[in-house]
Amino acid sequence: MSWGSRAEYMQRNGNSMDNKELYKRAAQALINAYAPYSGFKVGAAVLTKSGEVFTGVNIENSSYPAGICAERSAMSAAIGAGHREFQAIAVCSQEGSAWPCGVCRQFMYEFSPEMTVISGEDAEHIEAYTLNELLPKGFRL
Ligand code: THU
Repeated sequence: MSWGSRAEYMQRNGNSMDNKELYKRAAQALINAYAPYSGFKVGAAVLTKSGEVFTGVNIENSSYPAGICAERSAMSAAIGAGHREFQAIAVCSQEGSAWPCGVCRQFMYEFSPEMTVISGEDAEHIEAYTLNELLPKGFRL
């Protein structure tokens, strides 16, 4: 995809970082996933409103429910560093796309219902939706 200038890209994408670049950061992160039980490694990269990127991986546990998805792992790193608003998150598994589970959608909805959610089979085949599209009428207190 060639959209010319960076300014033109941002006008169309709305985010301060290329979706494909964020996806590549997620793909790099998944190397460190800890998934000995499912064997399904996932990486995520979240872009904060201020333009910083935090990555996360799925971390499984002998007590299965204690495990955490890559998305909440990345979001937690960013939130713990003080961030509260997000532009986008990219998610990638060892087998290609990995769209966030329902729990992660709700977790992210708390902070940025309008954020972009990116996944795809590889960096050349990414798709993007808003979180609002993936979780219509999400819950907020
Ligand atoms: N998983 C994620 O980390 N993110 C997703 O979007 C889908 C599922 C993890 C949870 C578990 O460690 C493994 O993938 C299999 O469900």
